[in-house]
Order: sequence, then C-alpha cells, then structure tokens
Amino acid sequence: MRIPEETVERIRQASDILEVINDFVSLKKRGSNYIACCPFHNEKTPSFNVNPVRQIYKCFGCGKAGDSVRFVMDIENIGYGEALRYLAKKYGVEIEEQEQTPEELLRQNERESLLIALNFAKTYFQELMQNTDEGKSIGLSYFRERGFTNPTIDAFELGYSLDQWDGLLQAGIKRGYNPDMLEKAGLILRKEADGGGKVKTFDRFRGRVMFPIHNVSGRVIAFGARILKTDKNQPKYLNSPETTVYHKSQVLYGIYQAKQAIRQEDVCFLTEGYTDVISLHQAGIKNVVASSGTSLTTEQIRLVARFTPNITILYDGDAAGIKAALRGLDMVLEEGLNLRLLLLPDGEDPDSYVHKVGAEAFKAYIKQHSQDFIDFKASRWLTEAGDDPLKRAEGISDVCASITRIPDLLKRQTLSQRVAQVFHVSEQSVISEINRLLRKQQEQGQKEAERQQHRTETANRQAPPQQPATTDDINALLTSLSDSDADLPDIVIPDAPAKPTTQAKIVQTPLALQEAECIRLLLNHGARELEPGITLCQYVLSELHDIDFQTSPYTLILTLYREAYAQGDILLAADFLNQRVSNEQVIQEQVIHMTTPRYEISDGWQKHEIFVPSEEEIGILADAAYRNILRIKKMLAEQRMSQIQAQMREPTNSTDEADRLMLEFMGMKRVDIEISRLLGTVISG
Ligand code: GTP
Ligand code: MN
Repeated sequence: MRIPEETVERIRQASDILEVINDFVSLKKRGSNYIACCPFHNEKTPSFNVNPVRQIYKCFGCGKAGDSVRFVMDIENIGYGEALRYLAKKYGVEIEEQEQTPEELLRQNERESLLIALNFAKTYFQELMQNTDEGKSIGLSYFRERGFTNPTIDAFELGYSLDQWDGLLQAGIKRGYNPDMLEKAGLILRKEADGGGKVKTFDRFRGRVMFPIHNVSGRVIAFGARILKTDKNQPKYLNSPETTVYHKSQVLYGIYQAKQAIRQEDVCFLTEGYTDVISLHQAGIKNVVASSGTSLTTEQIRLVARFTPNITILYDGDAAGIKAALRGLDMVLEEGLNLRLLLLPDGEDPDSYVHKVGAEAFKAYIKQHSQDFIDFKASRWLTEAGDDPLKRAEGISDVCASITRIPDLLKRQTLSQRVAQVFHVSEQSVISEINRLLRKQQEQGQKEAERQQHRTETANRQAPPQQPATTDDINALLTSLSDSDADLPDIVIPDAPAKPTTQAKIVQTPLALQEAECIRLLLNHGARELEPGITLCQYVLSELHDIDFQTSPYTLILTLYREAYAQGDILLAADFLNQRVSNEQVIQEQVIHMTTPRYEISDGWQKHEIFVPSEEEIGILADAAYRNILRIKKMLAEQRMSQIQAQMREPTNSTDEADRLMLEFMGMKRVDIEISRLLGTVISG
C-alpha cells in the first residue's frame, strides 16, 4: 500500500506546519517564529521553535527537529505512511493507493469496516445514555453516582446499552450494517437455539454501562461493559472478544487519552481498572492507563515504552494486587524500563482512593509511598524474615533474580550496591549471587539468547528503514522549498575531514575515525552550548571521563582539552595554531585540517536565504555529538568483548574469574545492543 510520490508531494505542499502543530500544542508568536513548551520533553520555559517560512520545527532543549510529517510521526508515535495519511485527511488530499493485492484490499476493507461498525456502536451507546429514559435513569445516573462529570463522560465516550435483546442489531441493520460485520466486530452473538437448529442472533452487550476501548490513535476497537444490577450469574465486566482489530494483550485502556500526559510527565501510571483510569484522569492525573482484566503483558509494556521509560504500578493493596504487581515487576525490568511500585491502603483502589483524598493528596501519597523494586521486594522479605537467616538469604536471592532481568550493565551494578545496603550484606556476596543466577539461567538453555534476539528485532522494528532520518527530512524539505530555477549547489554537511599529509601515518580504524570526529567537534564547536549551561566540551569530556583515546595524535589532543578544562578553559582552534598549548607540527596540521570546511557556502545560497542544515543548528550539532559518543562507546564495548572472549579461552582461569568474565561479557553485550537501539532510533545512518 504505497502512497505515490506525487501524492506525498501534494500532501507536503498542502500541510502548514503551524496548523499541524497547533492541533497539539498552542503556539505563541515570537518575532518571525513561533514558540511553545516542547511536547517531547518536560519543560517550563519554551524552547520549542517553529519556523513558518522554513516549515520546520526544532526544540533547543531536547534537539527534536523536523517538518510536518516528522512532527506527526513523533507526536502520534506512528510510522511515515500513517503520518502521511493523517495529513492527507486533515488537508483533504485524496490518496490513490498503489498496487494493493486483492487480499490486502480485503483485509484493509474488513479492518476499516469493523472500525466503522464499532464507531457506530459507540455513538449508538452514547445516544442511548443521553437521550433515552432508561439510559438517563440507569446509565447516566450510575456514572453520576460514581462522580463522573460531563467532560469526563465525553472524553471517554461512555455510553449505555439498553436492557433488550437486539437493540443494536436492529439499529445496525436499519443503518445498513451487515450482521456478519457486526458479529466480526464482536458486537452481536449467534447461537443455536436448543436443539431445533434455529440460529438466534442477539446483542452481546445488554443493560450495561459501556466503556469504549480506543487504540493509540483514538479509534474505538472494542468495549468493556459493566453490569449494574447484582447478578451472581453474570460477570461484573464483560469485554469484547478478540477480533481483527482488537488484541487485548496489546492494548492498554486509556492510552489515547493519556499519551500526551505520559510524555509530558515522563512517567506512566499503570492501574488495573477502567474506573481507576477515568477517576484519576478527572482528578487531573492524566498519565494513567489500565491493563483492564488481563494480567500485564510484554506488549503492553512496550506500548508504554513508546512514550516513556518510566512506569509506576499502582495496584490494590490486597493479596491479588501484590501478586499481580510481582508478576509485572520482572516483565517491566526485562524491557529495560524503570519501575516503581505502590500499593494502595487495603480495601482501596486508585478510583476509590482519589475520590476519598483528592488529587493533591493522591499525588503526595504516590511520592511518599512508591518504592523501587528493590525496596518493594526487600520490605516484604524483611518483615517476613525477621531474624531467620535462611529467609533473608531467600530474599536476597529473589531480589537478585529480578536484577538479572535488567539489560543495562551500569544499572545492575548500582543496584547490587543498593541490595547490599538494604540487606546489610557485602556487595561481593550480592554480585556472586547474581553471577550464580546468571550461570544457572545460561545453563537452563538459550533463553537469554532468545530474549536478546527478540530485543534486537524490536530495536530494528523501532527504526524502520522507510522512515527518513531527521536530516533527510530537512533536506527533502529544502529541496521542495528551493527555487527550481536557481542553480544551487549540493547541500554540504561538514563531515570527517580528508587526510592531511601527516595523517597518512594515522591508522584509519573505525574507532580512529570516530576519535577524529570527536576532536573535530571539539575544535569547531567546543564552546557552544548544546543545551543551556552545557557546552559541547563539557558534554564530551564528561561522557569520556573514564575513556582514553587510542590513536595518536587524538589521545594527546583530548588530554590537552582535559587539562585546559580542569583550569576552566575550553580550547579553541586558535589556541593550537598559536602554539599556546602544543608546538607539535602534527597537531597543528591536524587542527588546521579539521577546522577548514571542505566547501564554502556560495553567495547564491545566502542571497536566497536558504537555511543550511549544518552544525550551526544546535539540534544537528547535538545529534552529531550524541551519535559520536555512542559510537565510540559501542566500539569500545565490542573491543572489550573480543578481549574477554580471548581471555575466556585461557585454561588458567579460576571459576571465580570465569564467572566475572562471563558477567562482564553479558553486560557489555547488553550495552552494545542498547547503543545500537539508541543509534537506530535517534537517527538512521
Ligand atoms: P468497579 O467495581 O466498577 O469499581 O470496577 P473496578 O475497576 O474497581 O473492578 P475490579 O477491581 O473488580 O476489577 C479491575 C478490572 O478487572 C476491571 O476494571 C475490569 O477490567 C476487570 N474485571 C473485573 N471484573 C471482571 C469480570 O468479571 N470479567 C472480566 N472480563 N473482567 C473483569
Ligand atoms: Mn473500583
């Protein structure tokens, strides 16, 4: 289902960046630009800038930048094609789809038909609740009793299904909906009446308040429905069955209403029920979703991870809640997310508790009582264990088992210190326990390898090749904006310099090239601020605080930067040229080379006032520095891994030594995978 290039072009031409962005954040005019608080990171003073002439945006805080299409992709967390479709719809550009196979067409049509039918049902249930006597006196009054206001009822599109057999079916048929389609959408049931072979067709949801379940982009894909009378033979909540558009393990209730707030607050509260989500939302705590009836799944955690790396689990304090929290705990850690947990006072769920104490006290309660997983598990074990050393050991082992799930080596190291403190044991004993568990896991088969492979696959999926890189976006945009008659030179983004004479001696390994790039960035931009108060020099030196370069003369230049920085000084190219810091010829030559752009920008460019996406743009510079540091770290991790592999082959290793090597190797491997993921998501290429 490709969108033809001409159509893409028409969509881009039709889109106006101010209108597109204004749908999500309100922009204020500042000079010829517009500003807002960045929707991609949490900030109080606006550093998000939109340039209507260039039709691009960029955030000076987090570095996100791009055009209308990129904005829609990032804000909605959707792919390139979907973003184009969104804009096409907004601007009334018709898309003639190319080369759809009959099968694709059918599937596409079925999916779309189901969504349309579900949307019809949603509106139907809403109207019943607002406009019929039964709806008002039973459905609406129930929600009123639970304290839901009209805006809340509207935001979640709540409704009511009449207590009759085939209201929806009849209304649907009247409106031209095929009963087969209604059945496939999970709205009606067909059952053989006892014996006679006669098929009865009737509504699935009857006499219940209706909670539409939305997908990330806000379309209704299913319903949850709560019974109002007490009937022991009926489940309290009835949900839609699995359908072509509803896979319950992949869905989180409330994600559509919460996603913006999750991104802003940079944390997602995870609850168990529909009403928890709605009540917290109404109280102004909008970054909240529910797994609704299913126990938490890995897919649901990944859905959250699209918006934030931080999850706080808010479950009931009863036995079932604790059990559910413990089950979710390892899964969240395994996905590399940061986790906090909070149990509500016994007998309360988030819904009842926020009604009882109010939003401010609720937030304060989360702040005071949420625990990281170590404290959460430890407090349970320590109260139970008392003086029993055996129970204590069991507790340590249990916490260590969770730690082995965390993919990030550095995080694990800090955490083993914490475990040692919490349980009052030596850090060494914690590390050996983690080692023992890791070894056990290894022996237990290929699980680890499979998980890693899975992660790599996920990482690859997160950086689909068809998505253009930010720089490409801007280039494409420039091309489309440029005066086609003008004879324009190619856009030149300064890249690694060609070899100077003396550099013939420098070995051109991939690592050496990255070291060169790092020095080039320092020489050209060391004093510039990547974000307020943080110079590129400071960023690079702090990232490399425990790393030395391996290639001469970069090693020396980096050392010179360090020494100068320790005196509060950021070296400039001129400092090398006037021999203030070094009189070695090779260094001077190197510096000159690295600070002379290969091409000068022609006058014609400036005359046309065309924006050059060069490192003058702080976002692009910050990206370059960020990628450079990641690549250096990746190469060092790979280097270390091959060293460890060599060491492990030596027969003289003690068991302890072998353990240590294995642990270090696995840690490095995870670092390596994580960096690949970051490089993939940040920018391709
Ligand atoms: P209220 O009683 O309306 O406050 O709902 P609650 O959210 O407090 O209910 P509870 O804590 O009992 O259950 C939490 C969630 O589990 C609900 O929101 C539902 O998603 C789900 N759930 C509860 N009961 C049932 C049931 O009988 N069947 C199904 N499929 N899901 C249920
Ligand atoms: Mn409840």
